Amino acid sequence: MSNIPVDVELPFAEPAAQIAVEAGKLIRGFYESDVATEYKGEVDLVTEADRSSERLIRERLLTRFPEHGIFGEEGTRDRLEGEYRWYIDPLDGTTNFAHRFPVFSVSMGLERRPKGLAAEEDGEMVAAVIYDPMRDELFVAEKGLGAYLNGRRIRSSSVCDLSEALLATGFPSRKRHENPNIHLYQEITLRSHGVRRAGSAALDLAYTACGRFDGYWEFNLNAWDTAAGALLVTEAGGSITRFDGSPFRLDSREVLATNGLLHKEIMYLFGEMFAGRGLESIPTPAEFAARRASRENGGKK
Ligand code: IPD
Ligand code: CA
Ligand code: CA
Repeated sequence: MSNIPVDVELPFAEPAAQIAVEAGKLIRGFYESDVATEYKGEVDLVTEADRSSERLIRERLLTRFPEHGIFGEEGTRDRLEGEYRWYIDPLDGTTNFAHRFPVFSVSMGLERRPKGLAAEEDGEMVAAVIYDPMRDELFVAEKGLGAYLNGRRIRSSSVCDLSEALLATGFPSRKRHENPNIHLYQEITLRSHGVRRAGSAALDLAYTACGRFDGYWEFNLNAWDTAAGALLVTEAGGSITRFDGSPFRLDSREVLATNGLLHKEIMYLFGEMFAGRGLESIPTPAEFAARRASRENGGKK
């Protein structure tokens, strides 16, 4: 089950995976024992599980990599001047967790920041772990060594037409009325096989890496949501950028991740929507079937 690959050594992802699995089991224990929920801000939920998981990850990382920095959602800011920095989301999907909807994860992404790098510049993502404790699914990646799910190599999907794609997105817990995503959600829902909104950005990225989703986008994310998933996607052969195709950065906030093949088409649609241009109407079911038949015939009528 939650294995790491046996035939390839992953110097950072392997020890991190052990920590993420331990943290995931801790969260699952809380889930099964009905944990109390509080509000961080007006609508931002936090539970004892979020805090305990971050505490555990922080302690384990300090033992295993005493010089590494840690930037955690629940407030950890340790050794941020170091060469290596972990971005930790100790429980991604807290709203689900608090409502007993079994979709959440632990996310750990490692950035290498060469000496002399300006504070506002990104280093390079070198390792990633996302663990889903309810399904015992462990996603790991290491720069240049590939991405894996429970020990098996994963690759992004080969779907090249949006009309045949399954995608994912998410909405922030705060000020949803100010977030334009509902328009993108509507448009992409009409033009694809569907858009899922399951509530864990890290898992959305991991699912894009392994081909369950063909693409994923979201506004207003933080480095702890995306650091690990971004490396998983690229190591699995997919692409991740901002909505306009410019390079993804840890502080990008907006994320468009796809199998690479759909990137241009989605970027074009987003561009048209942001520019306020009316989009072409979607094909009727008959037109869609005809298009598909023609593609299967190699373009012959
Ligand atoms: C949230 C989840 C959700 C996304 C939100 C995030 P949290 O993280 O990743 O899928 O839509 O934007 O804030 O608060 O559960 O760690
Ligand atoms: Ca999160
Ligand atoms: Ca979280």
